[in-house]
Amino acid sequence: MSNLTVLGAQWGDEGKGKIVDLFSETFDIVARYQGGHNAGHTVRIGDKTFILKLIPSGILRPGVKAVIGNGLVVDLKALMEEMEALESLGVDVRNQLAISSRAHVIFPFHRLVEKISEGRKDRVAIGTTSRGIGPCYEDKVGRRGMRFADLLEDASFAALYEPFAEDKQILARAFQIEGWFDFAAIREEYLALAERVRPMVCDTAALLNGAIAAGKRVLFEGAQGTMLDVDHGTYPFVTSSSATAGGVSTGTGVPPSRIGGVIGVSKAYVTRVGEGPFPTEARDACGEDLRRLGNEYGAVTGRPRRCGWFDVPLLRYTSMLNGFDSLALTKLDVLDTVEEIPVAVAYRLGGRETLDMPATSRQLAAIEPVYTRCPGWRASTAGITRYEDLPGLARKYLEFLEEKVGVEIGCISTGPRRDQTILRPGSRLAALLAR
Ligand code: GDP
Ligand code: IMO
Ligand code: MG
Repeated sequence: MSNLTVLGAQWGDEGKGKIVDLFSETFDIVARYQGGHNAGHTVRIGDKTFILKLIPSGILRPGVKAVIGNGLVVDLKALMEEMEALESLGVDVRNQLAISSRAHVIFPFHRLVEKISEGRKDRVAIGTTSRGIGPCYEDKVGRRGMRFADLLEDASFAALYEPFAEDKQILARAFQIEGWFDFAAIREEYLALAERVRPMVCDTAALLNGAIAAGKRVLFEGAQGTMLDVDHGTYPFVTSSSATAGGVSTGTGVPPSRIGGVIGVSKAYVTRVGEGPFPTEARDACGEDLRRLGNEYGAVTGRPRRCGWFDVPLLRYTSMLNGFDSLALTKLDVLDTVEEIPVAVAYRLGGRETLDMPATSRQLAAIEPVYTRCPGWRASTAGITRYEDLPGLARKYLEFLEEKVGVEIGCISTGPRRDQTILRPGSRLAALLAR
């Protein structure tokens, strides 16, 4: 079966945008299944740089359908901005994009709720992207959320909006921020915005399953990363959706039996934005070097990313959860000048070595990584497109990671552009892409 999932194997920003854009050449549809405009997926085509937040990266391929699945939370203003930016670059957004009628809508007061919870003195801040993502998912799970279908149906909207607004007013009053929102004005504004996207809203589960039945190929694009998954990540320092492979089916309505493979995207090292445990974080000058060499600043918020070394137990954990068929390893070129590259091969916790991932933040913060040092290759790998052209020590590094993680590295990225990529002939990945 030829439908594939491509998702992040670490804490996000692994280079999913580049890999999805590259692979989407042989797919008919690219679908997002979770998250919202907290994502920032960078795609470099020639000398142009695109940052996709909400719209699947596949939109950049003419003729490819891009689907915003039911599992997403959508800020209509952010969507409009992104659509307009893409249209000004010549992308046929209105014909290529479909939005699930069951996707939830983010309202301005969701951002306010987030501000309140992030700013509470007695609560640990998560360091969110402040986009209202978490509070919108709270309303979804609390069964009081507003979906595109409701927004586009006068009677549904009228019945849902008043109690919805009332809840938020009570909350605003409790936190003494009364008068911040004109709920009537927001209602009118959102109804008008909804009209502008009406032609693109449909039952995307029916669209996707119908396309698959007709022999079309779908690529599912993950946002965030496995360690930010609400169930399996470093809770509570996670996002509020299911970023793992299991989220694809709930977030699109395409059953697991129709998904043929899962590709994990991982950096050749690790980064994280926001708060929370990060066992292999390099808090020294080496971490700063990685940030500078890898230009590690958030694509959405511009925040400096925390940087550290490749973490084998973490990759083994995320591989177990997602069942990776193959890995796409990005940013190998960033390590070109590093003399010795530390790789965590195990964790030391409570006096013993383990490969297991502990569940609590307290234990995660107490992990002492057990490092092996790999000799650096100290030569440029930038732009290399054939495995055999890589320096011997770079190949050794990759083969060491493959052996320790137990998953093939089928694709190696040596720069931000499409053509700066090695696809290994004979790999499981090559077979999955060919089908
Ligand atoms: P995503 O959220 O997973 O799509 O990743 P981001 O776009 O947030 O961050 C990845 C960054 O690394 C982007 O700026 C990419 O252009 C860049 N990038 C991707 N692959 C490579 C690579 O192999 N080498 C280098 N130097 N940069 C890369
Ligand atoms: P892409 O798709 C990296 C992080 C935030 C914060 C936590 C919760 O580009 O890889 P949220 O606003 O989602 O409630 O914040 O998750 N985070 C990301 N980190 N890449 C992302 O997306 C992220 N999306 C959210 O920094 O720690
Ligand atoms: Mg990103």
